[in-house]
Amino acid sequence: MFTPQGPSLRELTAQALSSVEHGYDLLASKFDATPFRTSDRLLTSVARTLEGLGPFDSGLDVCCGTGAGLSVLRSVCAGRITGVDFSRNMLAEARRAHPAATLVRADALALPFAPVLDLAVSFGAFGHFLPNEQRTLFAQVHASLRPGGTFAFPLPAPPPVGSRLYWTLWGFDAAMRVRNALWRPPFVMYYRTFRLGDVRSRLEDAGFTVSLTPVETLGRREDDSPHCRLVVARKI
Ligand SMILES: C[S@@+](CC[C@H](N)C(=O)[O-])C[C@H]1O[C@@H](n2cnc3c(N)ncnc32)[C@H](O)[C@@H]1O
Repeated sequence: MFTPQGPSLRELTAQALSSVEHGYDLLASKFDATPFRTSDRLLTSVARTLEGLGPFDSGLDVCCGTGAGLSVLRSVCAGRITGVDFSRNMLAEARRAHPAATLVRADALALPFAPVLDLAVSFGAFGHFLPNEQRTLFAQVHASLRPGGTFAFPLPAPPPVGSRLYWTLWGFDAAMRVRNALWRPPFVMYYRTFRLGDVRSRLEDAGFTVSLTPVETLGRREDDSPHCRLVVARKI
């Protein structure tokens, strides 16, 4: 799972015992060598799917980290692309990889943008937001988009109940709950708090209309449902 270029177990432990912001500051220089960075395969597949929904002008990558989603914006947006994250060191890595992008240090729960953006995307970060914070996050993205603007992000199908991945994610979340009950500051990262039904109603409450587009290049499951959908939320 981890490569020699990635963080050691000791470094990962130090990260996990920090706050989210400081944890990512510690991990930043090695983040791209971890499985937590969104894979190029998923990024390319999302870009292909978004191409069919455009054209898009300006774009925002929410919780951009080292800039994985900025490459998607670069391929589908004709205008300025911006990444926002609260980790100074993750932003420094993003700046190195995407010198033409605008990078803004801010909390995604208090975004500093006027309502002019055309497209917002986000990858791999929703687990850092508790259900109530997801409502705030969606409201903040909504307030940053122009009327008719789009918020899009991939949502993989949940693993079948009882599968190895199901138990891995269940175990991770359980360990995180124990850690957060015993240790301060909390490190909020849960895999099983972002389910389609809840996400859809929270987006609608924030003022979006929601549709789902299969990410076809990632294939289908045995029951013919897609492995991954793109959630496409349009600002009314
Ligand atoms: C798992 S990384 C994902 C990075 C990148 N989007 C990717 O897919 O590779 C999560 C990122 O979310 C950022 N983050 C978490 N909570 C945040 C918040 N409240 N405001 C801004 N950034 C936040 C972290 O600093 C980190 O860079």
